[in-house]
Amino acid sequence: MDIYTLGIETSCDETACAVVKNGRELLSNIIASQADFHSVYGGVVPEIAARMHVEAVIPCLSDSLSQANISLDNIDAICVTCGPGLVGALLVGVSAAKGLSEMTGKPLVPVNHINAHISANYLVHSDLKPPFMTLVVSGGHSEIIKVSDWNKFEIIAGTRDDAAGEAIDKIARVLGLGYPGGPKMDNIAQNADVGRYTFPKPTAGSGLDFSFSGIKTFALNLIHQYEQRQEKIDIASFAASYQSSVANVLAENAVAACIQSGYDTLCIAGGVSANSFLRKKISELATANDINLYMPPLDLCTDNAAMVAAAGYYNYINGVRADLSLNAYPSIQQMQY
Ligand code: KG4
Ligand code: ZN
Repeated sequence: MDIYTLGIETSCDETACAVVKNGRELLSNIIASQADFHSVYGGVVPEIAARMHVEAVIPCLSDSLSQANISLDNIDAICVTCGPGLVGALLVGVSAAKGLSEMTGKPLVPVNHINAHISANYLVHSDLKPPFMTLVVSGGHSEIIKVSDWNKFEIIAGTRDDAAGEAIDKIARVLGLGYPGGPKMDNIAQNADVGRYTFPKPTAGSGLDFSFSGIKTFALNLIHQYEQRQEKIDIASFAASYQSSVANVLAENAVAACIQSGYDTLCIAGGVSANSFLRKKISELATANDINLYMPPLDLCTDNAAMVAAAGYYNYINGVRADLSLNAYPSIQQMQY
């Protein structure tokens, strides 16, 4: 019998609801982005995010059901992101999901936002199944995760400080590209000279961990030196060189993780997986090393609820449930799911 999952996502600045069939087929995907409201502040303001989720979550929910042409009665599970993310923002989705679950008697299924990003790949790659390696790179995360089974995740490397998205957004802001800087920096750097500026490699020690605070500080200092000398930076080439330094290390370490673990399948996920420099570099390295690479389409890289409904499906069929004591878990270390 077909299983329909409803996904609710409010971990950062997108209010999103979606319906997915059997964990693989996207029936609706509604996203209300708050990015324009936060852009005047240069980043997400947590209290504004939470208040805007309160306004948007019910209309999003109704739209996702009508776009999928399904009623709440025919939904099998209410799946919600309960962390990691901004606590006030997460609580809006969690509270909405609890209310729906209590009202309808449908099971409440908690979803880890990182697992949701990974599951975005299930919506477009029907042959993808564990085991595989994943590189999850977003505004808050930079992790290499071994997915040994549908519900078995092991973080094998991560960042010692900033996330890749944070490091990109910060430099984009200083270059005057606005918020969110990632897509804008990517855009402006197309066809620019990647070798024009040289940056330190954003690694941490000899393992697979990342460290982005050094490259970020180096870039900031370089921009200030140019300003002090009243010299102009070639912004497009600066953006290209910076992103390619970040992308190269992400791709090299993800592919090295596959080789070290004997895995021949690699997925990328999260907002930064939309980056064209990363997609190009990781495609080249995967081909050179006989690794099957899966990438989500650009619109499923950044936050959405379809990925929550897909991850929720696998949680649901594996018996993962929450009761009304479900809370929000801001950091990955606090996650119970
Ligand atoms: O996954 P996501 O929507 O939210 C988090 O879970 O954090 O990721 C957002 C991040 C932001 O830092 C944004 O600038 C970045 O993804 N991003 C990009 C691109 N598109 C989005 N970074 C680089 N290049 C892109 N094309
Ligand atoms: Zn995300």
